[in-house]
Amino acid sequence: MGTRREFHGGLTFSVALLLLLVQPLIVFSSPPIACDPTNPSTRNYAFCQTTLPIDKRVNDLISRLTLEEKIQQLDDQAAEIPRLGVPKYNWWSEALHGLSNWGHGMHFIGRTIPAATSFPQVILTAASFNPDLWYRIGQAIAVEARAMYNAGQADGLTLWSPNVNIFRDPRWGRGQETPGEDPTTASKYAVSFVRGLQGDSPTGERSGQLMTSACCKHFTAYDLDNWNGNVRFTFDARVTAQDMEDTFQPPFRSCVEQGRATCVMCSYNRVNGVPTCADYNLLTKQAKNLWGLDGYIASDCAAVDFIYGASHYAKTLEEAVSYALKAGVDINCGKVMNQHVGSAIKNGNLSESDIDRALFNAFSLRMKLGLFNGNPQKLPSGDIPPSQVCSTEHKNLALQAAQDGIVLLKNTGNTLPLARTKVTSLGVIGPNANFPPSLMGNYNGPPCEVITPLEALQSSIKNTRFEAGCNIVACNVTKIPEAVQLASSVDYVIMFMGLDQAQEQEGLDRTDLVLPGMQQTLISKVAEAAKKPIILVLLSGGPLDITFAKNDPRIGAILWAGYPGEAGGSAISSIIFGDHNPGETSHDFFAM
Ligand SMILES: *[C@@H]1O[C@H](CO)[C@@H](O)[C@H](O)[C@H]1NC(C)=O
Ligand SMILES: *[C@@H]1O[C@H](CO)[C@@H](O)[C@H](O)[C@H]1NC(C)=O
Repeated sequence: MGTRREFHGGLTFSVALLLLLVQPLIVFSSPPIACDPTNPSTRNYAFCQTTLPIDKRVNDLISRLTLEEKIQQLDDQAAEIPRLGVPKYNWWSEALHGLSNWGHGMHFIGRTIPAATSFPQVILTAASFNPDLWYRIGQAIAVEARAMYNAGQADGLTLWSPNVNIFRDPRWGRGQETPGEDPTTASKYAVSFVRGLQGDSPTGERSGQLMTSACCKHFTAYDLDNWNGNVRFTFDARVTAQDMEDTFQPPFRSCVEQGRATCVMCSYNRVNGVPTCADYNLLTKQAKNLWGLDGYIASDCAAVDFIYGASHYAKTLEEAVSYALKAGVDINCGKVMNQHVGSAIKNGNLSESDIDRALFNAFSLRMKLGLFNGNPQKLPSGDIPPSQVCSTEHKNLALQAAQDGIVLLKNTGNTLPLARTKVTSLGVIGPNANFPPSLMGNYNGPPCEVITPLEALQSSIKNTRFEAGCNIVACNVTKIPEAVQLASSVDYVIMFMGLDQAQEQEGLDRTDLVLPGMQQTLISKVAEAAKKPIILVLLSGGPLDITFAKNDPRIGAILWAGYPGEAGGSAISSIIFGDHNPGETSHDFFAM
């Protein structure tokens, strides 16, 4: 029970003022609310009557808007409409593997809730093949999002996650964000995670009200960012009808049909010549009409501008906004609707009814989130306090997710687990051993707390010494003699190598699949010098060709640990010492 709740719970203004004077350092923030019951000029509008069906309420609201006001609702930073008591709304928030400060909707810095639980990057969580875990992570993120909203730290509950693109090309920098290359796994991931985020039951029974809104992105056939002169903004994915049906569309279809995601985001690329955000067949005929998307379509950020600016598919920005709206885009990420819809209506490229459809979908969703119901405390989720963010339960879930995702790739002669009592000295080597950003993956948020692998191992084995061996993960400057010296003077050696965001990320694809720079040389030299076969831990999202390590008998064990999130160090340590068995399963993936 936070002070903030009591503040909204009915204290009179003067008592509240007194509290503020007595405790001047506590900042009370309140959630934005429409249809405030204490506002006599708005509370009687039909759109505020929660007893009316949502379509009636939305049509009432739209009928009250001027054209200018309508246009200001079409971009992700939707304007306030003060005369109707409608607050601004930020559509863009991210929650790929925990709430994030990417986007405009979530605010952490200097606030009551400074951090959120940072789960492993999705590619690792997917490797658990555990839909129940995926569901519970979605559910935990939704609770944290509502707590942020209740604390006045979120001006939106529309989360632009998950990324369910098929990881077809292993060099793709964003493959880490996805559940991998298999359409079946990606579909199951989409359904479970979305049900968790939106507040449905694991088997899809609807709750009375959306907890948050999930968005399946990036629709579709998108697995190239920036490779060898090919950039996503102009890339034209040529895909056969069969490959679309077999490979790229199943996760989106499942996301909408079974997961009942309330949003789909169109991507930057073209598919068979047409920018996806301008493709009526894809957005309206398939996602909305065939699959029954009950929600809205968002554009990826600036993707509508690029229909003109990057790909010149449209001759003007007026044409670009009209193509997008007519194809089915409801919310544009960026500013181009504000800037060009007015002139597109004037020159005849668009009609007002094209934008009324978008507004209908947008406001319906805000109402389904309960954001036009007056006092947000009275919502089913209105009493979730800040203490439910970074709770022990959520932190344990982050640990479990990392433990269940980590994969044992090699374990010759039972190198693992190590018995703590038998390790008299430990050498930890590698640029990923003590570098917190390497644990996080992209689209991260401020984590509750981070324990690096080195810190976790040090807390088990007192006599632990560390040598990074490489200046950075790119490993273009080495300290091989120092690493070799350490390796030869300790009982056991554990190396932390692999990739980081400087090797693979949004806007950066790889050109090969081998370890960066001098990493392989360092590993081989250390393995040669060590007293016993070494343990190699790889952090990466995309796959790595480690044939040399597989074949090297001086490398006894290999673990792939993805980007394991805030609890990654503890998870790796628990596996190394046998507290958790990475081969253990507690679920039946194919029965789900
Ligand atoms: C947009 O409007 C301009 C000016 O009226 C016109 O030349 C152009 O053909 C229109 N484009 C589309 C796609 O309707
Ligand atoms: C190593 O790589 C980094 C990142 O690419 C670069 O900034 C640095 O100059 C390189 N150092 C050397 C010695 O090449």
